[in-house]
Amino acid sequence: MTEYNPDGLEATAAWKKLQDLAPAATKLHLREIFSNESGRVETNSTEAAGIYMDYSKQRITPEVKAALLELAEERDLRGRTEDMFTGKHINVTEDRAVLHTALRDPREVTLEVDGQNVTGDVNDVLDRMGKFADSIRNGDWKGHTGKPIKNIVNIGIGGSDLGPVMAFEALKFYSQRDLTFRFISNVDGIDFAESVIDLDPEETLFIVASKTFTTQETMNNAKSARRWSLEKLGDEDAIAKHFVALSTNAELVEGFGIDTANMFGFWDWVGGRYSMDSAIGLSTMISVGPDNFRDLLNGFHAMDEHFRTAPYDQNLPALAGLLGVWNRNFLDCATVAVLPYEQYLMRFPAYLQQLTMESNGKHVTLSGNEVDYETGPIYWGEPGTNGQHSFYQLIHQGTSIIPCDFIFFARPLIDVPAEDAPDHHDLLIANVLAQSSALGFGKTEEEVLAEGVSPEVAPHKVMEGNRPSTTYMAESLTPFTLGALVALYEHSVFTQGVIWGIGSFDQWGVELGKVLAKKVLPLLVEGAEDDSLDASTVSLAARYRAKE
Ligand code: F6P
Repeated sequence: MTEYNPDGLEATAAWKKLQDLAPAATKLHLREIFSNESGRVETNSTEAAGIYMDYSKQRITPEVKAALLELAEERDLRGRTEDMFTGKHINVTEDRAVLHTALRDPREVTLEVDGQNVTGDVNDVLDRMGKFADSIRNGDWKGHTGKPIKNIVNIGIGGSDLGPVMAFEALKFYSQRDLTFRFISNVDGIDFAESVIDLDPEETLFIVASKTFTTQETMNNAKSARRWSLEKLGDEDAIAKHFVALSTNAELVEGFGIDTANMFGFWDWVGGRYSMDSAIGLSTMISVGPDNFRDLLNGFHAMDEHFRTAPYDQNLPALAGLLGVWNRNFLDCATVAVLPYEQYLMRFPAYLQQLTMESNGKHVTLSGNEVDYETGPIYWGEPGTNGQHSFYQLIHQGTSIIPCDFIFFARPLIDVPAEDAPDHHDLLIANVLAQSSALGFGKTEEEVLAEGVSPEVAPHKVMEGNRPSTTYMAESLTPFTLGALVALYEHSVFTQGVIWGIGSFDQWGVELGKVLAKKVLPLLVEGAEDDSLDASTVSLAARYRAKE
């Protein structure tokens, strides 16, 4: 194991080996790759924490795989992982530990970091959340006018929204159905207006979720929620019964008028996009109950332990990360499609967009030097089978290679009998398997012509194939499996960050836009002038003001 050098990727022997292997390996077709290797599926699949991963349809040869595994060792992935799990300040630009894994440590673990009893503090908050969630679920918590709470509205954005809304949708099957959940994130007032349009303030609880408690969108929406509540409830005292806060910033929570007794805290070592299993998960806990929330944490933890200890040739997150590096840097794939064949995972691709792109969308290494290789790809996707009838055409026959992550579950949570038709779930799974097969192996011109297609039309029907994919399968979508799945992606993002030598845990790229929005606002509301802004922006602002 060598000392970690963020700038050292291209000097590693494994990287050079990959560069040597790439010209021949990237020319191989998956058809050849499969026919060259008997037992390809057995040697290119693995399983942990209830998730089976088949990566045999990725375009790697045994030699490429070996070099990728060597790369993980040479880039000291093991050492960097230990640094993360033990609270070293690996978020260097913010001088912070990165300890989301501690959020799901079992109670008996002892972890002290920077003088903080991490596990103790985490469990104190979880216990308080549990009591609060139960009091909402069983109706003990009464609103200002004595009515029980029926509606829970989470106000947050980014990590303070995407995790909660994704988890709510993903675990809806386990939710308490007499409670209504809404998630407001956009500063567009329509989001607020439409979310509360049919709700009664007397029965509504707002969860103001913001790590910093300064985020413009969230603060504006929270203020609208205050106004909306007080309009009906009248009395300032009502806030205590209808507002809770999830934040690291007690001072600002108090300043907003929320009693810190109604605040559930977390810490600066929890990144926003890594926070769905912290206090930010309060809406999830209210929805599915504290026991299911604990199962979710257990799933995260099982994958954490797997990532931390399993050899890399059997390690799901490490393999996923390494394959991502191969696809990005050697197959030149600029995007990845995440395609869950599971309706409950409808918001999973959106959740992953922040996790992956805010983490690895970086152009300098940890030492501030410009990278001269590509880093984080664009993530996008939709639940199957809908995408098959819109964008899959391009994935199958377009000029870009788009690696796909297929995700499905063997057992549906709800059986839906159809009359004189195949079982819904069998049909769903037939489709996901068919798609990855078609993408991988395609259809040659010879095969098309053999079907009697004319030579003029045949080229249009040729399916080149050789489009890589990984398939993840679990038995059923449980809180445990969801936790394991999210942790799998978290650690694959981390793996890539370590290989590329970039800082996966800050997000400076979002700052300039926030600063400029503050500068532009006076142009719109007061007609102010600002020479420091560009001419196009000034002109657009003037047109907006004229048309308002
Ligand atoms: O603007 C980006 C960001 O900082 C994300 O990283 C974060 O998840 C989101 O804003 C919301 O931040 P907060 O929870 O502090 O309101």
